Amino acid sequence: MDLYAVFGNPISQSKSPFIHTLFARQTQQKLTYRAIEPAEDGFPQALDVFFKEGGKGCNITAPFKEQAYQAARQHTERALLAGAVNTLKLTDDGILLGDNTDGAGLVADLIAHFGDLSGLNILLLGAGGAARGVIGPLLEQQLAQLLIVNRTLVKAQALAERFADLGPISASSYDALSGDFDIIINSTSTGLKGQLPPLKPELIKPTSRCYDMTYAADITPFNRWAAELGAAKTVDGLGMLVGQAAESFVVWRGIRPGSRQVLRELRRNLSR
Ligand code: ATR
Repeated sequence: MDLYAVFGNPISQSKSPFIHTLFARQTQQKLTYRAIEPAEDGFPQALDVFFKEGGKGCNITAPFKEQAYQAARQHTERALLAGAVNTLKLTDDGILLGDNTDGAGLVADLIAHFGDLSGLNILLLGAGGAARGVIGPLLEQQLAQLLIVNRTLVKAQALAERFADLGPISASSYDALSGDFDIIINSTSTGLKGQLPPLKPELIKPTSRCYDMTYAADITPFNRWAAELGAAKTVDGLGMLVGQAAESFVVWRGIRPGSRQVLRELRRNLSR
């Protein structure tokens, strides 16, 4: 049976084994998928062992996405843009190919919830690795504008410069921020710490649609805050998680699994 895995530290909370096992059942693919937790400094060795044992491909999550990028011998265009790899595949020629499916997962979920993104003004909160992974695929959607706002302004400016050739992108501090945005995406790690990004409340309008790249059993802190301020719609990142997994599955198996049933089951398990 073909062997796949997800690498991360910590990894016990990962939904990827559940998602890929359901995908495999649904598409009648014979594969096993397990979770591997290397020590913080043990990722290259663990990866080596996995592929020597016959691994065909893997997902990589925090904190190893940059190291996975280094480990790959070839990169897809979207992995090069992201500077990080969440999907590795051993090609038929025995080459380790690095890909990044996070942005595709986000874009698919945004379109599923909010429709066509072309011509929209999008505000992206945060300029860390999570933001960098999704900017390229967002700019492919013919947006009117993508504005990145970050606590540390220079990091937002560096991203705006890096992606300037791909579309209309700019950077701002939270203080200087004003305007109307069709969609506000939270990529900051604030929710994990029970905090909120320092966004002015008046930026949330009755037409605002908010997307939090993290997820929660109930509602994420950012989405609760936005909903209380009257945002039109709030969506969490569980669909992005399933979307990136589906995209990785395509990379490995050449078959696109359906996301809906998996998403329903994940949501049910979360709220248990
Ligand atoms: P990741 O790589 O997973 O995105 P990260 O690089 O630590 O994680 O980035 C986290 C993001 O959340 C950053 O944009 C960070 O802002 P800074 O670049 O200024 O550090 C943002 N973030 C974390 N805590 C924050 C807070 N309390 N307020 C505003 N932004 C915060």
